[in-house]
Amino acid sequence: MRILITGGAGCLGSNLVEHWLPQGHDILVIDNFATGQRETLPSGLPKLKLVEGSIADRSLVDKAFADFGPTHVVHAAAAYKDPNDWREDIASNVLGSVNVVDAARAAKVERFVNLQTALCYGTPDQVPIPIDHPCRPVASYGISKTAGEAYVVTSGVPFVSLRLASVIGPRLTIGAIPTFYSRLKAGKSVFCTTAVRDFLAMPDFLAFMDLAMASGAPTGIYNIGPGEGHSIKDVLIAVAAATKLPVPDPIDIRPVGADDVETVVLDPSAAQAAFGWRAKVGFKEAIADMVGWYDAHGISAIHTHLKPAAGEARA
Ligand SMILES: NC(=O)c1ccc[n+]([C@@H]2O[C@H](COP(=O)([O-])OP(=O)(O)OC[C@H]3O[C@@H](n4cnc5c(N)ncnc54)[C@H](O)[C@@H]3O)[C@@H](O)[C@H]2O)c1
Repeated sequence: MRILITGGAGCLGSNLVEHWLPQGHDILVIDNFATGQRETLPSGLPKLKLVEGSIADRSLVDKAFADFGPTHVVHAAAAYKDPNDWREDIASNVLGSVNVVDAARAAKVERFVNLQTALCYGTPDQVPIPIDHPCRPVASYGISKTAGEAYVVTSGVPFVSLRLASVIGPRLTIGAIPTFYSRLKAGKSVFCTTAVRDFLAMPDFLAFMDLAMASGAPTGIYNIGPGEGHSIKDVLIAVAAATKLPVPDPIDIRPVGADDVETVVLDPSAAQAAFGWRAKVGFKEAIADMVGWYDAHGISAIHTHLKPAAGEARA
């Protein structure tokens, strides 16, 4: 395959690069390093190329497609780091997605895999959330990603759009796990929101991506997750156990912010039926692996798509 990965220096993109390069595929990454890091991409490899710039730049995207000639696209680039910067979210997540899918259509790619946030559903009417649940995103990241996905769907390219549970794996810099890890290790206070989330281990995500890229595989929109939820308090307890540090007593529990959603647990049954896939790695095992990775590699910046809650201290 000749795989063009937007956002290939980010957490999911760089894990895909690491997963697919040894299989002999040619890969081109487009990334502007807004949240990804250049160092995550090995340099000097003939089968890995990098275009530095924004997918919001149409001529850059068109040139990258024309020069590389991809057969497959993974669209993983997304802006989210400043929840008040709506224009950047629109530029990257809406216009950027349009540029990428339009170029993919012109290049007649075989498969286009779009990575979508489960926050597209907003506050769900039912949990686990079925794939045909209406999309009612409540904040800029989810709103712009949902518009981007709609353009992918309407483009006519052979696509799968994956509404993902929170993926746990190397270089994770978003959310509760890196925050708890770094604050517990530094002896700082932590708090949990009342939120409930589903978590997907990186090996399970990569196994699904192999299936999603296969010629003749099903197309359409799928929820990808284990189908079970865990509270943020469960996450804190699991991180504390894996770091062998005490769980704070009492645990400070606060309501979720106005721009957040209380419970996100996806119903993956459509993906299970279409692809014969199901998540295999357990929650505690995935967190223990993550803590082991942080112990070995450390944590760089921590990002979030949420506004700080009142009195919140970020890691
Ligand atoms: N990690 C998860 O659990 C999760 C869950 C649901 C959806 N997703 C989606 O998966 C994708 C990858 O997420 P991630 O967790 O790896 O995040 P990430 O921040 O690690 O990766 C995103 C990458 O996109 C790059 N980028 C941002 N704006 C860009 C632009 N305009 N042009 C080029 N590159 C740009 C960033 O520099 C970064 O390398 C995103 O689309 C995200 O919405 C991730």
